[in-house]
Amino acid sequence: PTRALVDAHGRSIRYLRISVTDRCDLRCRYCMAEQMTFLPRAAVLALEEIATIAERFIARGVTKIRLSGGEPLVRRDVGDLVRRLGRHVGAGLDELTMTTNGTRLRQHADTLYDAGIRRLNVSFDSRDPDRFRFITRHGDVAQVLDGITAAQEAGLRVKINMVALKGLNEDEIPSMLQWCVDEGLDLSLIETMPLGAIDEDRIDRFVPLTRVFDDLSTRFALNRDDHRSGGPARYWRVGDSDTRLGLISPLTANFCDGCNRVRLTTEGKLYACLGHDDQVDLKAALRTGGVPALDAAIDEGLRIKPARHDFRIEAGAAPAVARHMSVTGG
Ligand code: GTP
Ligand code: 5AD
Ligand code: SF4
Repeated sequence: PTRALVDAHGRSIRYLRISVTDRCDLRCRYCMAEQMTFLPRAAVLALEEIATIAERFIARGVTKIRLSGGEPLVRRDVGDLVRRLGRHVGAGLDELTMTTNGTRLRQHADTLYDAGIRRLNVSFDSRDPDRFRFITRHGDVAQVLDGITAAQEAGLRVKINMVALKGLNEDEIPSMLQWCVDEGLDLSLIETMPLGAIDEDRIDRFVPLTRVFDDLSTRFALNRDDHRSGGPARYWRVGDSDTRLGLISPLTANFCDGCNRVRLTTEGKLYACLGHDDQVDLKAALRTGGVPALDAAIDEGLRIKPARHDFRIEAGAAPAVARHMSVTGG
């Protein structure tokens, strides 16, 4: 018999996030430095190893898997991985999904749909071409807009992820929400989190979503929606539209009590919390002791899962952890 995934604080783990690559074709300012050192390819889990670990989690009760990165669609064999994991949708997995920057969706959308993915989150912080280029340092807004359209054409429900950034896109939040209503998209707003060194001080960009929500409430009819995606967002329905507004507010409204997730990195480490360095090496366990050792390492990962992050955004403060979001896939 397999042991259920319950951590030392009594939280059931049902959601596995997998970073399939730490690489990305963009360099979003709040996420990465301009110059990044990525893992050598030999350090990266093979597709077969990712699948073995994911399937062990499914056998032990995980019902939702999200592929993330870096940018998951820059990994060459990502289509094979999606097809492999897609076999579990409806048979163990309630949902297989992905968080992508959208640059390669035109090429991949049909593959994702055919494999069983029905919903995607696309990181998209501005619709303005110049701002989009500035925030991402390399991005072409038209390419991402086309990717979003391709995903919708393929039958995928798309949620836009927008990190609220002072002086960069804060004034664009109402028009982004209106655009989402018009296009049949969902929108999640995210507070910037202190992970990894970037080329600026995060406090200069931090926007508390409490303030954003107050402003949006004066412009839109927002009705609290009990919908749970299994992620950290709280949701509101926008008027009588199909659009859900989600708020991800780790700084102003801590949601760690309800945490249901762990993270597998590209290198095969299991991070117990986004905001801490506590981890176990699943790759080493699997390579040396097979599935029994893997199970023991997973148990250890649950045992060490911290109760909560202690993110703070303060002038001059060092990031809570040195690694970037792209290591654990957000
Ligand atoms: P849904 O399935 O649509 O709810 O997605 P999600 O919010 O679980 O995933 P997504 O990859 O879209 O993440 C959106 C934001 O939420 C990212 O900035 C993540 O880093 C952040 N996030 C997800 N899980 C956690 C968490 O456990 N703690 C914190 N602090 N942030 C998280
Ligand atoms: N704080 C908050 N969100 C971040 N993301 C990347 N880095 C950060 C950060 N430091 C977001 C991306 C993507 C999601 C996985 O995480 O925009 O939507
Ligand atoms: Fe790449 Fe996403 Fe980070 Fe932007 S936020 S640099 S798209 S991993």
